[in-house]
Amino acid sequence: MKIFTDENGFDSKGRKRIRESGQDLTIFRKDRNMFACSSQCPHKGGPLFLGKLLENGLMCPSHHIIFNTDTGKVVENPIPASMGDYRETGDLKIFKIETDEKGIKIEI
Ligand code: FES
Repeated sequence: MKIFTDENGFDSKGRKRIRESGQDLTIFRKDRNMFACSSQCPHKGGPLFLGKLLENGLMCPSHHIIFNTDTGKVVENPIPASMGDYRETGDLKIFKIETDEKGIKIEI
């Protein structure tokens, strides 16, 4: 399935949330690079649509886990080991984006 959108509607931090066809995704744009992922964090469902792009990945605002924006793997998990299972998280699913003169296409 492909979801289409345009280049408008990005906030000042380069984020655009899209809710369409039962999906809730956020596109992140930094310089010329873009990717899309779920708007909810795979850790505990935190608001990843408010995530912050850092040099080494995308940081969730809830517990500050950082995910690699190419692979979706965890780069840093600051939750202490003493918190046991609470520390565990799945990977973030990253969706491919294509752009052309008609806009942005997200491959789901
Ligand atoms: S919900 Fe995102 S880091 Fe915990």
